[in-house]
Amino acid sequence: MATTHEQITARPLKPELLELDGISRETIEAHYKLYQGYVNKRNEILGKLDGVDLSTANQVYSDLRALKVDLTFAIGGIKNHEIYFEHLGGSGGDPAGLFSDLVKRDFGSVDAWKADLKATGLAGRGWAWTAYDWDEGRLFNYIGDAQNTFPVWNATALVALDVYEHAYFIDFGTDRASYIDKFFDNLDYDVINDWVQKYGIRK
Ligand SMILES: [Fe+2]
Repeated sequence: MATTHEQITARPLKPELLELDGISRETIEAHYKLYQGYVNKRNEILGKLDGVDLSTANQVYSDLRALKVDLTFAIGGIKNHEIYFEHLGGSGGDPAGLFSDLVKRDFGSVDAWKADLKATGLAGRGWAWTAYDWDEGRLFNYIGDAQNTFPVWNATALVALDVYEHAYFIDFGTDRASYIDKFFDNLDYDVINDWVQKYGIRK
């Protein structure tokens, strides 16, 4: 039996994102439109899935497969970008509070964490995340090539570094390394610490 799914709407763009250090308004506005596209896609795909008759699934497996894969891409795109946009707009520097404590415990130092996340971002095709893995009880810098690769179950992303070209090409050309440095300069660690608190992550 078909079910119906609620439509969701894109979160508004925070005004401070239009005045980042080194990442232009033009980039952010174009990037925000991509995020809105993922929201629309998610709504559209769920609508189509509602219309799939599972009793004839043998005939529609290829359609079902495409829709289900696209759904992971769309919802991954929403989640990744909501973290990305939410934790930019700060003044970077050194993290304080519990996030800083976790970083120092799990990477040795803030500089070592940044170096590892930057290298992961340079090695990835789409994303690098700092995530708290609840089973391991520690932070990892995980790599992602696309919106739907390679998240790990039972881990919570606290930093989402978008390294798709659309995130930096207008401002930095092919110089992804300089973009990543600017990404750190614009992080809002208060937001990240709020998430650590909200999720109940303890050292
Ligand atoms: Fe993006």
